[in-house]
Amino acid sequence: MLILGIESSCDETAAAVLRDGRTLLSNVINSQVAVHSPYGGVVPELASRKHLENIYPVVEAALAQAGVGLDDLDGLAVTQGPGLVGALLIGLSFAKAISAVKGIPYVGVDHIVGHLLSPFLEQDQPEFPYIALVASGGHSSIFLVHDHTTIQPLGRTRDDAAGEAFDKVGKILGLEYPGGPVISRLAEQGNPAAIPFPRAWLGQDSLDFSFSGLKTSVANYVHQHQQKNEPFHIPDVCASFQEAVVEVLCEKVLTAARMHGISTVALAGGVAANARLRAVLQDLGAQRGIKIFMPSLELCTDNAAMIALAGFYHFAEKATTSLDTDAYSRSPILHPGPLSGGDSPAPPTVRAAP
Ligand code: KG4
Ligand code: ZN
Repeated sequence: MLILGIESSCDETAAAVLRDGRTLLSNVINSQVAVHSPYGGVVPELASRKHLENIYPVVEAALAQAGVGLDDLDGLAVTQGPGLVGALLIGLSFAKAISAVKGIPYVGVDHIVGHLLSPFLEQDQPEFPYIALVASGGHSSIFLVHDHTTIQPLGRTRDDAAGEAFDKVGKILGLEYPGGPVISRLAEQGNPAAIPFPRAWLGQDSLDFSFSGLKTSVANYVHQHQQKNEPFHIPDVCASFQEAVVEVLCEKVLTAARMHGISTVALAGGVAANARLRAVLQDLGAQRGIKIFMPSLELCTDNAAMIALAGFYHFAEKATTSLDTDAYSRSPILHPGPLSGGDSPAPPTVRAAP
């Protein structure tokens, strides 16, 4: 089965061709980082405009690199949400148009489901059930993944997502957007124990996250030093901040595994590209007998391969999405009930486990 995946939920326009849910024939990603960087964050209106410019060439490149044409496709998978609705609509409308003109079935995919299934794009694959941590710019959530389409949320952030905290701390330190990769690089020259930034545990065995207190603490540290004209070592701030995030993410995902008696953990989302997080989780997993899976770096950040993959499993369950379905800004897996950003019913393709 040949699937074209399309992703446009935030600031990456991406398209990928996947054969039989296993073989990635192409994976094209057009990043808008340079467009948004001067503003220190994603500007929704600019994102939509760029997606509109990029969607056609990106899809064309993905098909060309895979050596296939639209007529060879068996299905289209497109990110339906969560994300910026104006950005999502570009990919969704494009997929709908191909579907309508070519008569190819399409399925709307939840971006978070794409992330948490992304370890299946690698050779070494997790076994069900597994615990997944999705840590990205928009989400920090822990899930119990029963199978490819049965996904149970166990915890989520009460305020900022982990990636958002990296980006905001980057801004406080005057670093380039997005903060995550820059902080990660600078932290290599810093001392992670230099500054005792707080860890928000939110009670014993809580699987929820909170990163806004940590972000405020970094802001206070920086402002206090600036006010007193005292120099501070940016790499130490980066390393100490990163250590606080990594420690909380690792402990909570391993707590989830312990509480549910599960010995497999998968890491996904843009923050999963963080070298320190990958190393600490591997170490702690080895110590506690937990097998850790994580996608390669380019499959951690936003891509359409993971969307094609999730779509493959939806099609395997005979799910398709109707042409009058809307994009949504909040994920129904995390926020059951009426969808924001559209009046259409929740997509039939993702079931939260009972
Ligand atoms: O999954 P993603 O590409 O987009 C969303 O779905 O949000 O994640 C982007 C986020 C950004 O906040 C970025 O700063 C963060 O992932 N990120 C990192 C690293 N690479 C990307 N955070 C920490 N360390 C990194 N190496
Ligand atoms: Zn993402």
